[in-house]
Amino acid sequence: MNAELDTRRTGTTSPSTAADGSARAPRGHLARVFAEYPIEVLDGEGVWLRTRDGRRILDLYGGHAVAALGYGHPGWTRALTRQAEACNFQSNAVSMEVRHRAAARLARFGGLGLDTVFFVNSGAEANENALKMAFRLTGRPHVAAVEGSFHGRTAAAGAVTWGAREKWYGFPRAPFDVSFIPRRDVSAIAQHVTEKTAAVIVEPVQGLAGAFDLGAEFLQALRRRCDETGTVLIFDEVQCGLGRVGYPFAANMYGVVPDMITTAKALGNGFPCAALMMSPKVAAAVTLDSLGTTFGGGPMACAVMEAVIDAIESEDLLARVRRVGAYIRETCVVGPVTGHQGAGFLTGLRTSRPAKEIQAALLERNILTGTSSDPHVLRLLPPFVLEEQHVDLLRDALADLKA
Ligand SMILES: Cc1ncc(COP(=O)(O)O)c(C=O)c1O
Repeated sequence: MNAELDTRRTGTTSPSTAADGSARAPRGHLARVFAEYPIEVLDGEGVWLRTRDGRRILDLYGGHAVAALGYGHPGWTRALTRQAEACNFQSNAVSMEVRHRAAARLARFGGLGLDTVFFVNSGAEANENALKMAFRLTGRPHVAAVEGSFHGRTAAAGAVTWGAREKWYGFPRAPFDVSFIPRRDVSAIAQHVTEKTAAVIVEPVQGLAGAFDLGAEFLQALRRRCDETGTVLIFDEVQCGLGRVGYPFAANMYGVVPDMITTAKALGNGFPCAALMMSPKVAAAVTLDSLGTTFGGGPMACAVMEAVIDAIESEDLLARVRRVGAYIRETCVVGPVTGHQGAGFLTGLRTSRPAKEIQAALLERNILTGTSSDPHVLRLLPPFVLEEQHVDLLRDALADLKA
């Protein structure tokens, strides 16, 4: 492809060879649905990325919260390689030790009694199946979600995502009735959660909304109302779960046990996988053929899930996320940052100027961060292996920016 076409399609030009001399593939074939950062990553190590033009970038965004162990983690790489060599795939129709091990490991890691696990491939798919189980259990027509939420882009997950219908939903109608509870508004819960409500689906710490923490009081009130009305409580911990808030799940942090948890992102450290974790009451409604998947629970996914939980436990990463997360909040309210929200390594920094401007300025200083649906919140989702010395680089860069 010539350079002119390349520029027209991608809006960028870049050298045809990398700093290491490797050739560049033709541009323009990928659907243009993502605004790309102005960098191209070649490889990574720990919390660092190396770009095509030879820069070293501190990654505080972790590929939308996915790269929990960072890059080149030896235990994760070994687990994936060994499983690929041993047996790359068998479907759920064939029993495999690694699949049973991963399910048991995940249930034990959570320690919440959500001991039945259904493995799928993505966060949206996990939510889709969780909602399906709630309808199956209750036979009711309505779901309550929370304002500001993001649950994915498929038909059911998109229907319970705040603002999706107006922005990108695309389907002619939602597959069921949905209403949205204002965030943290305990007094509004009863009117949204009734005997007609099959499920409440909620991100305990809302990710895309800018690490907005819904708080124990609101989550406990949801639990109580679900108990009163026989409604199924689903925690979407696709982003905030699996260690990101410094606890196995946000449910552990708040001391509120839902009927189902969905989790993904950090679970595979980059290998696509997700899980739906169910209480005994929900699991009792699972029957043969009621749920299904081809790739979910594949042996390579299971091997890496096990490796991720192994690393979190053996490297004491939950304690590190709590400690270094607190250090971020203590030290990084400088320059244009006026405050913080969220928990652990799902942290939002409130900014006096648009967060987009701060993000761009930090990237010029070789620090990768994220924005959110709140224009004044910069989102940090770093790998769990981040250390205080890395946070110091962020603090210094922020302090250098105009307030
Ligand atoms: C809280 C939450 N739920 C669901 C999803 C959808 O996950 P996926 O993109 O894997 O379908 C996301 C993705 O960002 C998310 O943050």
